[in-house]
Amino acid sequence: MEKIIVKGVKELNGEVNISCAKNSILPIIAATILCPESITINNTPMLEDVEVICKLLAKLNCEVNFSQIDNKLKINTSNISPENTNTDLIKKMRASFLIMGSMLARFGYCKLCLPGGCNIGSRPIDLHLKGFKLLGADVNIGYGFVEVQAKKLIGNRIYLDFPSVGATENILMAAVLAEGTTIIENAAEEPEIEDLARFLNKMGARIEGAGRGKIIIHGVRSLKGIEYTPIYDRIEAGTFMIAAGITNSKIKINGINEEHLRPVIEKLKECGFLFSKYNENSIIVDGTKMKKAVDIKTLPYPGFPTDMQAQIMSLLSITQGISIITETVFENRFMHVTDLTRMGANIKIDGRTAIIEGVSRLTGCDVKATDLRGGAAMILAGLAAEGETRIGDIYHIDRGYVNVEEKFRKLGAEVYRIDV
Ligand code: UD1
Repeated sequence: MEKIIVKGVKELNGEVNISCAKNSILPIIAATILCPESITINNTPMLEDVEVICKLLAKLNCEVNFSQIDNKLKINTSNISPENTNTDLIKKMRASFLIMGSMLARFGYCKLCLPGGCNIGSRPIDLHLKGFKLLGADVNIGYGFVEVQAKKLIGNRIYLDFPSVGATENILMAAVLAEGTTIIENAAEEPEIEDLARFLNKMGARIEGAGRGKIIIHGVRSLKGIEYTPIYDRIEAGTFMIAAGITNSKIKINGINEEHLRPVIEKLKECGFLFSKYNENSIIVDGTKMKKAVDIKTLPYPGFPTDMQAQIMSLLSITQGISIITETVFENRFMHVTDLTRMGANIKIDGRTAIIEGVSRLTGCDVKATDLRGGAAMILAGLAAEGETRIGDIYHIDRGYVNVEEKFRKLGAEVYRIDV
């Protein structure tokens, strides 16, 4: 079993390179099923989650080749066998469920076991299925499986009760090859949705409005193979911004789209951070100034991202004053609080609200990554804690951060991985 060891407290210096976005790459890989031609995805970070979806495609008989030399991922789904989907890989990662829209569009059929993923709430799939039904599919659920089938998908108007990221992506992928026009209303507006639409449009799809609440998809007959570079990972960038603040440091972050990080940057400015543009894709984060407590409510984009909630909680744990975090997106996303408290934080939970009274210091101890972002929060807390923080269950962290300890070490932190 591996652990990540963090030795605090050290100032960070220098620069970090952000990878391409996990939450863009996963749906993009799922979308390769829509087209029987070769597709190349550039700058692919070989994260655990990316490996899982690649293994899933390989199990379905697709050609999947990753070159470690140039980080290009080449996928050809021309020989895909749609019947091989009975695999634990679906349960292992919720995003595997994103292949359902593409499979339905290409084969008119898909059967998958109900998805797994981070244990951060009940995470239903009703909105995905509502969309498929409105496009003309029959949906059957039973014995732990979901089966969808349609002779033909026909465009329709689909209103989502909640702007679910996964449902928007899955419906978008199903609608791309449907007959006629589909309109998704109250669609998720996350930058990764816009990226997926950009990828699909480059392949020949006709999608308008992605990245806003109303997406219009004019169905096309077929798509063509392309080469594509996804956007940078805004959550990884945000995590390093917090790292600068929690260690009172100034660092440069390369690989950033400031617009995508606007909700995070604005909140961090309120907290006392300073930001200056270095060039188009780089930013200097000055976290050396005195921080103050802030209140946060997680919301769908362009609100403050739930995927940054755990990390900012680590920072607020040692920020003087009382901060209140309200988690509105997932109902069980405070699992990291127990371990932050063991490190000395003063946090009380009341339903979906966390009340954080800043303490003057944290101290290292044995903790666990309870989920992906909760794990990142432990690394951040460890950077600011006196002594040694030993983080277990780090497979969660590897799902979304590539070379995480190397990236931190390059900034001067003492973060390393051991086998125990
Ligand atoms: C995606 C991201 C994840 C992020 C989340 C919210 C990927 C691979 N993962 O997850 O990192 O934390 O968006 O920004 O992109 N819901 C329903 N019915 C549905 C689907 C969702 O009620 O059919 C609810 C969920 O229970 C949850 C909320 O909608 O409370 C948000 O979920 P959703 O936006 O779908 O998140 P994911 O796509 O799973």
